[in-house]
Order: sequence, then structure tokens, then C-alpha cells
Amino acid sequence: MAQCILIGFMGSGKTTVGRLMAETTHTPHLDLDELIVAQSGQSINQIFAAHGEAYFRDLESQVLRSAMQAEGILSTGGGTPVREENRKILVQSGIPVIFLKASPEVIRARLKEASDRPLLRKLSAQQFVHLHEEREAYYAQAADLTVVTNHRKPADIVREILTRADLLESKRK
Ligand code: S3P
Repeated sequence: MAQCILIGFMGSGKTTVGRLMAETTHTPHLDLDELIVAQSGQSINQIFAAHGEAYFRDLESQVLRSAMQAEGILSTGGGTPVREENRKILVQSGIPVIFLKASPEVIRARLKEASDRPLLRKLSAQQFVHLHEEREAYYAQAADLTVVTNHRKPADIVREILTRADLLESKRK
């Protein structure tokens, strides 16, 4: 069973923080996008281009179910909590779900050069802000903890998560 799940918008730090958190706690790191790429044998860009978003989302739900059973820190994709089915999987798992929250300005700056986010390519600045706002409501619904990542070092974020997730665990016991 995964020990902790990271959710949040593209560029919020899920992969970087997840990797460091796994290293710090000596557990494996699982990245949902990487698992999808490994299973399908295609890049995220190729999946979107060849099969469309709906196909990608079905694959994402399927891979999420199996990833939840594996040991480690799980970094999800930015769109994972948008599907109600996926939110249920996350919430009902009993595993701490951490929302890494970053402002649209910070995310835009972080992703300026990124070419591997097919969803971002077609969005205007206004559509981007709208998508960000819409998604934040889903992240908040699924999260046990929210950690703001704007202008912070990954190690600092990991420290905060570990302290607060620990508190969360002791409250549950
Ligand atoms: C997506 C986010 C991406 C990836 C795909 C769709 C999204 O993951 O799953 O491009 O809908 O926000 P990251 O959040 O890791 O970039």
C-alpha cells in the first residue's frame, strides 16, 4: 500500500518533492505518469496525440488503482483528482493525500519551457487561470493536508509534509 499520495497542478512540485520524500524516508517513489508511459510504451504526448484525452484518462484510472497497492510515495498527474472515480479511490484509501498548492504565476514561470504538457499548449493565459481555479476545488476535496510550495526549496516542503503527515497519523490512531 502506498504511504503517501501527492496531488496538485502541473508544475506544483509533485515529482520533485515525491522523489526527495522517498529518498528521505527510504521508500520507493512511484510516479503515475511514468507508470503510464511504461505500461503503454508511449510518451504522454504520444498518448494524447494518438488516442486523445479520454483514452489517457481511462489508462490513468487503471494505473492509479494498481499503483495504490504498491509500496512507496505516489506522485499523481495534475488531472488525476478531476475524475470523481479517482477522487473516491484517493479519499477512501485512508492514505494521507497531500495537496501541493502553487499559484498560477509560479506554475507558469516553472513550466515556461516545458514541452511535455499537452494540455497546456492550447490554453490562453485566461484559460490557464480558469483551469487552475477549477482544479484547485478538486484537489481540496481529495486532500487531507495542503502545503503551499511557492518559492520554497523541495527539502523545506518535504520537512513540512513529514511533520504534518505524522501529526495526521497520530490523530487517526
Ligand atoms: C496532466 C498533467 C500531467 C500529465 C498529463 C495531464 C493534467 O502530469 O498527467 O499531461 O491534466 O494536468 P503532471 O501534473 O505531472 O505534469
